[in-house]
Amino acid sequence: MPDTTRPAGARHSSSILVTGAAGNLGREVVNRLHAHGARVRSLVRHQTAARTGVESVVGDLTDPTAVRAALVGIDAVFLIWPLLDSAPAHDLVAELAAAAPRVVYLSSTAIDDDAARQSDPIVQVHAEMEALLHDAGLRPTVLRSDTLASNARGWTQQLRVGDVVSGPDVARTAVVDERDVADAAVAVLLTHHDRPDHEPHVLTGPEVLGRDEQVALLGAALRRRLRFQVLPADQARSRMLADGRPEHLVEALIAASVRRPRTDRITDHVERLTGRPAGTFAQWAVDHAAEFGR
Ligand SMILES: NC(=O)c1ccc[n+]([C@@H]2O[C@H](COP(=O)([O-])OP(=O)(O)OC[C@H]3O[C@@H](n4cnc5c(N)ncnc54)[C@H](OP(=O)(O)O)[C@@H]3O)[C@@H](O)[C@H]2O)c1
Repeated sequence: MPDTTRPAGARHSSSILVTGAAGNLGREVVNRLHAHGARVRSLVRHQTAARTGVESVVGDLTDPTAVRAALVGIDAVFLIWPLLDSAPAHDLVAELAAAAPRVVYLSSTAIDDDAARQSDPIVQVHAEMEALLHDAGLRPTVLRSDTLASNARGWTQQLRVGDVVSGPDVARTAVVDERDVADAAVAVLLTHHDRPDHEPHVLTGPEVLGRDEQVALLGAALRRRLRFQVLPADQARSRMLADGRPEHLVEALIAASVRRPRTDRITDHVERLTGRPAGTFAQWAVDHAAEFGR
């Protein structure tokens, strides 16, 4: 098993760039790399408070000059692509190919390798990004992640004013704790734990859950009777637009809710990479109850 228990202070020789470092997952990756003594540089869009031991570079993933500067002296990159279009990634991938670091790309379990076209724009972009990275000769390590538990943070506003979470119905998935995905990413980044066949690692949680079940589990952690209410697509669209979400994102989310097929796949890839089984959503809810006002 990889050594992910290395004590803080025992420095790794690698310099690692973390993209999306201010996000739900990126933050967890940065924290872990730092605790393992790796040299960490985070790429963020907005300057954050300085943190000892973590170098922060401000830049946009679509700005090749910023990306080039961020890659100087870097051995490995934890890469996310949060855009709904892969076209602006060509410059980024060219910069990566020129700097030639190891690339660990965070993709999606929803990719169907046999489909010419993926179910919805979000999955399509991940498939295109994987292909771009491979075609550039980067031999990326691909982590295909299921739905992150941290997406539940999107419910905090609704739960401040009531006991109902409403939204579009979505396919049941094996929701995975973002801390497990971060542990898996760190194991790969620090130990070169690649699959010999270069197949993706498929990171899932231990059980397949519907939104209603997730909301009920969160309610149990908060000691509240919470329920999920399905909104028809047109109502969900109007509400997301009224909340100020960009139209192309709203359309992608609606397409995902309508077209993404249900998957029942549960893997042991988290355990293979981290040495321990993936955590449950129930535990995530208990650990994060304070964020929901409990
Ligand atoms: N969430 C899921 O269920 C899921 C499942 C599979 C794969 N993924 C992939 O994992 C990624 C990370 O997920 P997450 O939940 O951590 O997302 P998140 O919390 O929304 O974080 C995304 C981060 O990317 C940054 N960002 C957005 N556009 C950028 C740009 N043009 N240049 C540089 N940085 C940019 C954001 O910066 P700001 O802080 O400035 O907004 C944010 O910090 C997703 O983007 C997706 O590609 C997610």
